[in-house]
Amino acid sequence: MCPTMTIEHRYDSDVSTPEARRALHEQNRRSWNEATRAHNSHKADQAKFLREGGNKLFPEEIGLLGELTGKSVLHLQCNSGQDTLCIKQLGAKRVTGVDISDEAIDFARRLSADSGLEAEFHRADVYDWLEEAAKYSERWDVVFCSYGAIIWLSDLGLWARGIASVLKPGGRFVTVEFHPVEMMFEMDLSHRYPYSTHGRPLTWEEGVGDYVEQSGPSLTPSGWKDGVRDFKNPEIVHEFHWGTAEIITALLDASLVLEHFQEYDYATFKMYHRMEALPGRKWKLPDDVPGFPLMYSIAARKPR
Ligand SMILES: C[S@@+](CC[C@H](N)C(=O)[O-])C[C@H]1O[C@@H](n2cnc3c(N)ncnc32)[C@H](O)[C@@H]1O
Repeated sequence: MCPTMTIEHRYDSDVSTPEARRALHEQNRRSWNEATRAHNSHKADQAKFLREGGNKLFPEEIGLLGELTGKSVLHLQCNSGQDTLCIKQLGAKRVTGVDISDEAIDFARRLSADSGLEAEFHRADVYDWLEEAAKYSERWDVVFCSYGAIIWLSDLGLWARGIASVLKPGGRFVTVEFHPVEMMFEMDLSHRYPYSTHGRPLTWEEGVGDYVEQSGPSLTPSGWKDGVRDFKNPEIVHEFHWGTAEIITALLDASLVLEHFQEYDYATFKMYHRMEALPGRKWKLPDDVPGFPLMYSIAARKPR
């Protein structure tokens, strides 16, 4: 993710055709496969944590997801399924996770079996999966994604229309995300990146980093393991920085009705070296830095 990658970047990768976009997604799949292996290597027995009732979701998303008993939840870009299984644990009747990374989905399926929490996981590009799912009759009460999902989307309009197409009438899209303003700064808080790249890919030669190792135990509520050391990702990666207006407009254009938008002056991830710890695995800017939003959340409903 951007804040951990401070070295070479460029803005010239091709997204002019669906094939070009697909090629970038495939490259991201390779980069996420490498990184996910490193990330999970630092997380102590996650199945045991879940079996014992541990839940790593934050109050922000739990509150927005609302009462889940009896509901179906589709978790897009679910990575290794930890949050998907935590959603199941909150009482959802059925949970479905989708992610492009082979490593992540293999891990998610094992975690589901080992934790005893039932979930369905699909390895697919989110765009292909939503297009395919729309052809079938199944629809979800809630579509959810969070923390570092939206920066991988190469076409916001297509994504939002895909979400609308798989929601039940009256169903809700919910996200809690890192704020695009937060993505503008290096780890030393110097301003280096634009607020939005307006659909242009931001290509990082370093690939997805091992931000779990860099963050230490705050990202591993199941416990910390040393795991992979000095991880170097051989696979480059392509991100897309979208402004909040672009994201909300895409959802409105897909005929979803905005119910909630909030910005937060804290984050659930230590983005910058000088951030200060808050209770509950959260981080704030130091007092001498003028504030800016670090996360946002959205809830939007499909009309009945
Ligand atoms: C930062 S992780 C999201 C983690 C998530 N908050 C969770 O529940 O653990 C971003 C995820 O997006 C996935 N991803 C990136 N591009 C994708 C695409 N085109 N289709 C599906 N998944 C994608 C990556 O494989 C990665 O697992």
